[in-house]
Amino acid sequence: MPSSLPDSSAEEESNYFNNYPPPKALKNHEALTRAFIERHVESNRRVVLVTSGGTTVPLENQTVRFVDNFSAGTRGATSAEYFLEAGYAVIFLHRQFSLLPYSRHYSHSTNCFLDFMDERPSPSDHGPIVVRSEYQDEMREVLRKYRYAKQNNLLLLLPFTTVTEYLFELRALANLMRPLGANALFYLAAAVSDFFIPRDRMAEHKIQSSEVPVIDGDVYTGLHEDEPHSGSKKLVVDLDPVPKFLHRLVYGWAPEKSMIVSFKLETDPSILVYKARTSLQRYSHHLVIGNLLSTRKWEVVFVTPDPPGERWIRVPKSKRSKSISGVEDQVGLAESKPLVDSGDEVTQLQLGDTRAASGGVGGAAQARKGIEIESIIIPELVKMHSEMIEKANRPRS
Ligand code: PMT
Repeated sequence: MPSSLPDSSAEEESNYFNNYPPPKALKNHEALTRAFIERHVESNRRVVLVTSGGTTVPLENQTVRFVDNFSAGTRGATSAEYFLEAGYAVIFLHRQFSLLPYSRHYSHSTNCFLDFMDERPSPSDHGPIVVRSEYQDEMREVLRKYRYAKQNNLLLLLPFTTVTEYLFELRALANLMRPLGANALFYLAAAVSDFFIPRDRMAEHKIQSSEVPVIDGDVYTGLHEDEPHSGSKKLVVDLDPVPKFLHRLVYGWAPEKSMIVSFKLETDPSILVYKARTSLQRYSHHLVIGNLLSTRKWEVVFVTPDPPGERWIRVPKSKRSKSISGVEDQVGLAESKPLVDSGDEVTQLQLGDTRAASGGVGGAAQARKGIEIESIIIPELVKMHSEMIEKANRPRS
């Protein structure tokens, strides 16, 4: 593992960040984060930065249109709850309007939140609004946990929208987390855009469709074909790769001895483990959690530098939640065979116990809906983080 980065990486960083004004909210987010971290350093509490949701890529500077991705922030918001349960303070860096810890149980759902409420009859016709009786127990539990987190300053919610905002925020927060040392954990579950339009090629104004003549190359980054095939103009969008800043995080921004966990999402089962391993080798961090789009709610793979190297975590079949978009037949397809000679042993962690079902928010109701895989992932991560902290604190002999 190299101890520093080549100069080109720092150059790439300054080229990227010097090209953009910092997000308007950054100063305020930094102040909130500084105070949050000071408080938790003082009490020697572990702090996790959870990134969550998708990033947008604007097509225009005064943005009307943008490229987006599928992520709703379920992984991040759910994980944040289990981290809080495990005693961590959570900085929740999330895509604005994506799922949030606790409120996720009632937002973005097929039920409108108003369906959880009722009006108590009253002679005055001004009866109080109440939670319907069938939701009382579950909502009380969620509410209590939410209020506990808020009252004890354990949860800091910081929103972003674009990929650039996300990267500015990630860099700033990582730097502010330095006083935490080994107590800091990075859990990078956001679906960060891989392609973007560099600022110097981005249109200032709304890209016009057909009514207004556009002078070639003058107005926007998308390109009209010189001779369109039909009467209407085609928009060709030319995207560059977003610089990968994970290595900057590992070697520059993050506190020394902190733990860094990234995610790898694929749709093709045959390349998931390979891509997760490659990412781990390239960035030399501690863990890549691989997941397939179609099975991500029921299985993930932990890919680590140390043996066993590949460890599958699965929700047992009988405890899987229903998912409209998920494909259960694909569970197990991405698992590679044990490599006999390399000692790269494959282990499976299939928690059939009730610990996960009864833990977390929404206990009984959640158990009915199935186990959330994050209820298995987070305790495993906490164990790994504890080992790292213990190692970091061990006196040198
Ligand atoms: O929100 P959900 O619907 O629940 O979905 C959750 C999820 C599938 C999005 C999540 O579990 C997940 O897999 N997130 C990572 C998606 C991914 O493949 O990221 P990546 O390969 O582009 O990046 C790998 C890692 O580097 C990520 O942890 C990312 O945060 C980080 N990254 C990526 C690009 C970039 N320019 N800088 C980064 O730091």
